[in-house]
Amino acid sequence: MLLGLNHVALAVPDLEAAAATYRTLLGAKVSAPQALPEHGVTVVFVVLGNTKIELLEPLGEGSPIAAFLAKNPKGGMHHLCYEVDDIVAARDHLVASGARVLGDGEPRIGAHGKPVLFLHPGDVHGTLTELEQV
Ligand code: CO
Repeated sequence: MLLGLNHVALAVPDLEAAAATYRTLLGAKVSAPQALPEHGVTVVFVVLGNTKIELLEPLGEGSPIAAFLAKNPKGGMHHLCYEVDDIVAARDHLVASGARVLGDGEPRIGAHGKPVLFLHPGDVHGTLTELEQV
């Protein structure tokens, strides 16, 4: 079902500082910031050869990463995203197997314009897990 790793997402309290760290300290290619108000985050992508790192900063009230940053004020790993070829088939398999899909269970359009779902971290050994149809 999983085809590859699409991205690792890190929540950070200061996106500009984090982007600068990746650009200058680590020497990576970093995209321009993109505000995604419908997801409550501003994001930059650190572009790597075979995957990406997403740096996420809260945007607006009720950001889905605000509680994470309250617990992890310096930031930290927020989720992993794996690629699947059929997200509805993947969802149906997971739900039939007793895994919990967050929200109403319907795929939403994610930060890359593709359908995504999130699995409850409690069902995948403590790591929030995103699936993206590619
Ligand atoms: Co993601």
